[in-house]
Amino acid sequence: MSDDFIKMENVSFSYGARKYEKCAISDINLEIKRGEFLAIVGQNGSGKSTIAKHLNAMILPSSGKVFVDTMDTCDENKVFEIRRAVGLVLQNPDNQIVSTIVEDDVAFGPENLGINPEEIKKRVYFALKAVGMHELKKEFVSRLSGGQKQRIAIAGILAINPDCMIFDESTAMLDPCGREEVLKTLLHLNKKQGLTIILITHFMEEAVLADRIAVMKGGKIIKIGGKREIFSDLNLLESCHLSLPQSARLILSLRKNGLKIDGNPINKTECIDVLHRFLSSFR
Ligand SMILES: Nc1ncnc2c1ncn2[C@@H]1O[C@H](COP(=O)(O)OP(=O)(O)OP(=O)(O)O)[C@@H](O)[C@H]1O
Ligand SMILES: [Mg+2]
Repeated sequence: MSDDFIKMENVSFSYGARKYEKCAISDINLEIKRGEFLAIVGQNGSGKSTIAKHLNAMILPSSGKVFVDTMDTCDENKVFEIRRAVGLVLQNPDNQIVSTIVEDDVAFGPENLGINPEEIKKRVYFALKAVGMHELKKEFVSRLSGGQKQRIAIAGILAINPDCMIFDESTAMLDPCGREEVLKTLLHLNKKQGLTIILITHFMEEAVLADRIAVMKGGKIIKIGGKREIFSDLNLLESCHLSLPQSARLILSLRKNGLKIDGNPINKTECIDVLHRFLSSFR
């Protein structure tokens, strides 16, 4: 088994048929390890979704190569296996739900794969447990909140038993509560089940959950690195019109206002620590 689970090699893609049309992504090189949690950020139209669609063979590169677990996405015989290995969760859960009852919806994917009923039962149980929705298995999907529906959509993909899940702005339509539910689920899948996660997001508070962050601009990955490295590069963030996480913004603005405060927190816990240390220094 290769350590690099996903590999994009010099990938360019244009939605237009003609050669001179502008590429949606160009010269993308990206390697993602099994079990990794990568966030992809960038302005509207920078190419994030185009990358996502390449990773489950929804679109094929105009030039370059994409490999999923050493399978070439251009190999027609592998498309089925690639789509099983890489699940894509979209922005609107209503576009992904097909049945009226929760457990039927989750069973839909494995049924389509021709899996036997005993195994389907096990998978539906596991998937609903993993997203914390097992108690609502008999519920009408229409009665669920946005966050619950998105968790059902996630369970539907989990039941296919993927190795990797891509969340393409999957929390964008949810309220803060629903967003938290989905993020908790996603972290659980990564840390406890070892699932590879790719999170495409406009929210920097979400991006800090990842191990690495790729920053896109104009169809290119202009920087990829650890989250601290990315969030300490203020020029890069400014040039891509990306914000800092709230906690980092707070400390930065206190510093700008003359407080001699050390540390560069990127989440709430670190921010509280930094403020605590600062206030303790006056005792
Ligand atoms: N189906 C399509 N047909 C033609 N052009 C497209 C299509 N989908 C995307 N594009 C173009 O490709 C480029 C990259 O788009 P993409 O959707 O990958 O960006 P994105 O970073 O996901 O943006 P957003 O944050 O708005 O979702 C943009 O210029 C976009 O207009
Ligand atoms: Mg997009």
